[in-house]
Amino acid sequence: MYRRDFLVRTGQVIGAVALTSALRTAEALAGKQSSAASPSWETVRANFNLAPDLIHMAGFFLASHPKPVRDAIEMYRRALDANPIEYWFANITKSEAAVAAAAAHYLGVDPADIALTDSTTMHYSTETSLRLRAERTGASIRRVSLYRDATAKSVDEIVGNVTKAVAPQTRVLAVTWVHSCTGVKLPIHAIADALGPINAGRDEQDRVLLCVDGVHGLGVDGTELPELGCDFFIAGCHKWMFGPRGTGLVWGAPTAWSAATATIPTFDDANYEMWMELRPKAPIPVGSWMSPGGFHSFEHRWALDRAFQFHQTIGKPRIAERIHSLNRQIKEGLAKMPNLTLYTPMEDELSAGIVCFDVHGIQAQQVVDGLRKKKIVASVTPYKTLYARLSPGLLNSPAEVETTLAAVRELRG
Ligand SMILES: Cc1ncc(COP(=O)(O)O)c(C=O)c1O
Repeated sequence: MYRRDFLVRTGQVIGAVALTSALRTAEALAGKQSSAASPSWETVRANFNLAPDLIHMAGFFLASHPKPVRDAIEMYRRALDANPIEYWFANITKSEAAVAAAAAHYLGVDPADIALTDSTTMHYSTETSLRLRAERTGASIRRVSLYRDATAKSVDEIVGNVTKAVAPQTRVLAVTWVHSCTGVKLPIHAIADALGPINAGRDEQDRVLLCVDGVHGLGVDGTELPELGCDFFIAGCHKWMFGPRGTGLVWGAPTAWSAATATIPTFDDANYEMWMELRPKAPIPVGSWMSPGGFHSFEHRWALDRAFQFHQTIGKPRIAERIHSLNRQIKEGLAKMPNLTLYTPMEDELSAGIVCFDVHGIQAQQVVDGLRKKKIVASVTPYKTLYARLSPGLLNSPAEVETTLAAVRELRG
C-alpha cells in the first residue's frame, strides 16, 4: 500500500470530525436551530467573509473561502513561512493524499484515480486546450451543435445531436456539464448511455472517451462520478466547491487512464526515487503520475480537503436541493416578465446554478450595471453572445432572490 492511500483515510476522518464540530460550535454560538449534522443556511453563510452589504449573484466565478478553508490555508502558510523546506518534505505526500482522499470520498471514486491540478483548463476554454492538443498530435476537431432553438431544448435533442456526430474515427467527445454561456446543463449520463452501444462494437483502444468539463456541476448536484458515467472529469475546485483559489482536479475512470499520457512530470516521491534509481521501478497510482509536479501554492492546494469536507458536512442532497430551489425561484420570476427572454431551461435535469437572460432593449452590461447600483452583483457572459447572468448559490437566500427579481423588474433602458 502506498503512503498516499494509507494516510488519506486517517486524515479524512480526522478532518471531517474537526469540521463538523467547528460548524456545530458556530451554530451554537449563533443560537440557530438545526440538526447536529446539518448547519442552518445562516451558519453556512457566516463561514464566509463576503461583503455583507451586497447580494452576490455571481459566486460561481471564483470562490470566497469558507472559514475552515481560510484557517487551513493560514495554518499551512505559517508553517511554510517558518521552515519551508522541512515542512514541505514532511507534508507534501500526506497533505496531497488527504486532498485526493477527500475529493474521492465526495465523488465516490478511488483516490488513486485523482490527479491534482490548478484549474479546469489553465486556459480560457476547452476549445483552446483541444486545439493545442490537435496541433501537437495532428488530430482533427469538429464542433457539434447541441440544439437548434436557444429557448427550447430537450434531453433527446441534445443526446441525438451528440451521438449522430460520432464518426468511426472519433476517439474523444469533450463536453461541458453546465454551460456558463447559457446555464444549460448537459445530460451527461444519457450521453454516456448513448455511447454505450457505439463503444460496444469497438476495440478497447478505439472507444470514444467522454470527457467532461465539470466545473459548474461540481459542488452543485453532488452527483457521484460513476453515476455520471463519463470517462474523464475535469473541474476547478475554486468555484461552487469553495476550494482554495487555484485548485482543481482531474479524475479518470480506471478503464480510461491508459489513453492518457502525462505532459508535466509528477513530483510524487516514489516516482522521484525511481528516477534517482533509489528504488526498483514499480507502478505508482495513476492519479499521482498524472498530477503535474513543480512548486505550487501549496498552502492553497493542501487546504482543498477542507472544502470537500465542508460540503459533506452540510450534505450533498441538501446543497443540490437548495441551489436548484433558488434557481427555480429566480427562473420562475424572470419567466413572468414580459420584456425578457430566458435562455436557461426550467427543468432541473437541464439546468443547475446559472441563469442567463436578455432584457429586451437593454444591453447585458447595462442590466448588470443597473443591478449593481442596487448592490446586486451579477455578470455578463464573457463570450460572443452576451447575456445577463444571475447565479443564486448556497450563500443566497430566497429573500435575496426576491430582491433581485424586483430590481430586474425595475430596470429601464
Ligand atoms: C464552463 C467553464 N469551464 C471552465 C472554466 C474555468 O474554470 P477554472 O477556473 O477551473 O479554470 C469556466 C469559467 O471560468 C467555465 O465557465
